[in-house]
Amino acid sequence: MNRHAYLTVGIMFLVLAAPLSSATGIPAKKVSWRADKKGLLSKDFMLPAPSGTQEDCPCSDASLCKPIDVAYEVETFGFGATNFKDGEGFNWDAITTVAWGSGIDLICDAHFHGVRVIASVSPPLTSDQDLISQFVSDTLASVQENFYDGVTFDWESPVDGYDDPMNSYYLDVVTQTTKALKELNPSYQVSVCAAWSPNGIDGRYYDYKGLADATDYLYVMCYDTRSQIFDQCIASANAPISICQKGISDYLQIKVPAEKLILGVPWYGYKYECIDPEFNPEVGKTCEISQVPFRGVNCSDAAGSEVAYANIRSIVNEGRNSSEVMRDTYMNVPFFNYQDDGKNYQIWYDDPESLSAIYKWAVESGLGGTGPYRWDQLDASNEAESSEMWDAIAVVGSKKTVVESFKESPSKNIEVLDFH
Ligand SMILES: *[C@@H]1O[C@H](CO)[C@@H](O)[C@H](O)[C@H]1NC(C)=O
Ligand SMILES: *[C@@H]1O[C@H](CO)[C@@H](O)[C@H](O)[C@H]1NC(C)=O
Repeated sequence: MNRHAYLTVGIMFLVLAAPLSSATGIPAKKVSWRADKKGLLSKDFMLPAPSGTQEDCPCSDASLCKPIDVAYEVETFGFGATNFKDGEGFNWDAITTVAWGSGIDLICDAHFHGVRVIASVSPPLTSDQDLISQFVSDTLASVQENFYDGVTFDWESPVDGYDDPMNSYYLDVVTQTTKALKELNPSYQVSVCAAWSPNGIDGRYYDYKGLADATDYLYVMCYDTRSQIFDQCIASANAPISICQKGISDYLQIKVPAEKLILGVPWYGYKYECIDPEFNPEVGKTCEISQVPFRGVNCSDAAGSEVAYANIRSIVNEGRNSSEVMRDTYMNVPFFNYQDDGKNYQIWYDDPESLSAIYKWAVESGLGGTGPYRWDQLDASNEAESSEMWDAIAVVGSKKTVVESFKESPSKNIEVLDFH
């Protein structure tokens, strides 16, 4: 759906969210909808409250606690490092930023490899400047105390059109936080998670141009693109390149500079139950799914569930698929059927072939970068398969070009300080 679901390898948590708050200015809608990630978010990803004391650097070398101060020409920016163990399963050469990272082991190791680690924050959405100031000062204190390299914002609730006051509250707190962080250290990185298109996806009519101007990057979530299905209620691709390209083009149309856009891709897919009793598990291609509404649309990918790349591939590797792995030639993505518990399922996902085409296009289009939701969805013990995924993104060559530093980089620089 229209959020980063909290998805650990093999496990998906579905949490029912509270009805839309009247604080959004929108009446609660009588639709059942899946939780925004906010409801699913483990505290681990969040910037902790400041403790008020600065600990000594716990890394082997005190310099590893300093924020990363290089700017990479192309970011390979992705989420997630759950169960991080000494970098196991991580190809640091392919990564420039780990968002929602937590834990000092991760930070020491990432910094050793020149990789930023940034935390998630949930700001108050309000016109109350005292609350905003408190949030900003807590954020600054905690980023420093915990040796982070910046923060990412990920609000995903619907608003009542482009002029909903929530939009300006959001922009205000993002702007003030970024300005304060950059004054402290221009190398701190700030980003905002954005829908696959700026055009009101799932009711997110946010001021994306303003949010892009105020920060370093918009992380454009080109996944869960079937959060609202307006045509046939069937299983299909999570993140086809055609939709990613359309979304990026919409951002460029509202004059967000290409270098501020990071094209986010899924390292997970969707598993759907095929409800037609006549469905042929060996060769069936059209998998009718049950209608599960999302934000006023009767059919959505909430009928399915998210499955990490590693777990999808293990079904095929263990020979549990009932069909061949087929490929939709128009969208260039794989899918297959399998049976479990007497039910038919179809799984759609992205693989090194579909992702390579997207990475390549992102780089050729001069985007600020690309990267997955999530870095930790590969099976480190399956070296052959996970290295194909790493190799595909390593081609982006993110770390080959280091722009001297944020201080000297003309495009990613301090112009942010003069904003507003
Ligand atoms: C959506 O579902 C509701 C409830 O079943 C139904 O009344 C409505 O006609 C459906 N809308 C569409 C477009 O199918
Ligand atoms: C499972 O997928 C693999 C890879 O496409 C294929 O070789 C195998 O024949 C498939 N199994 C079945 C039962 O179709």
